[in-house]
Amino acid sequence: MSANIVIGTQWGDEGKGKIIDLLASRADVVVRAQGGNNAGHTVASGSETYKLHLIPSGILYKDTLCLIGAGVVMDPKDILGEISELSKRGLSFDNLKIDPRAHIIMPWHIALDGLSEKFRGNKDIGTTHRGIGPTYMDKYERSGLRFFDLVNPEIFREKARSAGELKNAIITKVFGGEALDLDAVIEEYTEYGRQLKKYMADVSVLTYEANKAGKTILFEGAQATLLDIDFGTYPYVTSSHPLSAGVCTGTGVGPLMIDAVYGVAKAYTTRVGKGPFPTELFDETGDYIRDKGHEFGTITGRPRRTGWFDSVIVRHAVRVNGLSALCINKLDTLAGLDTLKVCVAYKKPDGTIIRDFPPTLEGLEGCEPVYEEHPGFKDDISGVRRFEDLPAVCREYISRLEELCECSIKMVGVGPERTQIIER
Ligand code: IMP
Repeated sequence: MSANIVIGTQWGDEGKGKIIDLLASRADVVVRAQGGNNAGHTVASGSETYKLHLIPSGILYKDTLCLIGAGVVMDPKDILGEISELSKRGLSFDNLKIDPRAHIIMPWHIALDGLSEKFRGNKDIGTTHRGIGPTYMDKYERSGLRFFDLVNPEIFREKARSAGELKNAIITKVFGGEALDLDAVIEEYTEYGRQLKKYMADVSVLTYEANKAGKTILFEGAQATLLDIDFGTYPYVTSSHPLSAGVCTGTGVGPLMIDAVYGVAKAYTTRVGKGPFPTELFDETGDYIRDKGHEFGTITGRPRRTGWFDSVIVRHAVRVNGLSALCINKLDTLAGLDTLKVCVAYKKPDGTIIRDFPPTLEGLEGCEPVYEEHPGFKDDISGVRRFEDLPAVCREYISRLEELCECSIKMVGVGPERTQIIER
């Protein structure tokens, strides 16, 4: 019995899906606690590759209970599409449960996400255009629609109409956009509610009972630490709490239930969307990493920005998440480079050296990474399964990351397959 969290420690896309899948194969219950279909978890299993958006990765195991908690924002159309696609591939959804408190992404949220990004011009955030921010805005303004509303046609009709009228006024009068046909939206979404109703259940209660019964629970993170609304690079963040603490509020469980928090990082750094990225590479090394690591967005297909491993941000993640251990993914991607650089601190414009990630963009502005250099390696390490069998330079690189991040590294990823992992 245990309850573990898996969290991203950088800007997302650290390969959490692979670690989550490995742990999900040993879990009785898998829970998604926050975020929405802005996430994309790629899980490779044998010849099959699954790209999951909102469905917890436990779905790949037929007896695993898959829970979507109150802190999630759910696009009903998207999740039904995901269910339909995965059902065709033989997966069963009998064990899927969604909390009635989860907020619903409506078409006006998606429209407003696009319109406000356009309005910001070159100061846009680079969102996934999935309506995430506008849905969380309504949640915190206390005017959102919840899953419970969606599955109750009379309640839904009334709430959706009054919300939709206000949103249409904003879309047309503020942004000069096109009004949504509310009758059509209500009809379409009422049908989605009808199809999804069978999945509704109190996820807080289910998780609590599972824990009491001694089950193994995995809380699968989505997005990542530096995208957290408070502890990320605000405003270039998502609108939720991808931190370990977000698991408790997003599921409705207490922190003492949690046994361990695993942080996932890549052996280098990537970011999609806009915002600061101190160790970003604009040269051929950056291109090499992008091509070799297939660094293109799961959801939007956008090329990811690439850079060296930044221990300042990962140490920040160790602190704000209270990490028990780290998993370092994609070490194999770095093979073939002559030198590996690691950022150990930042140098501020006045020459001061800082080791803690600055809380504001203003504090980060002008900061230059301070690098140390490590010898590269040429070997193909994708077949290695024991830490001792890695080339000495790889072992030294990992040990140094451990020291710099002040956290032990328990797993090292050496390829996309579920089996391509070294557990220490
Ligand atoms: P939003 O979550 O769509 O509002 O996007 C806000 C920022 O978070 C953008 O820079 C996105 O690219 C980024 N983002 C959101 N979800 C993910 C994710 O799962 N992986 C990586 N980046 C993400």
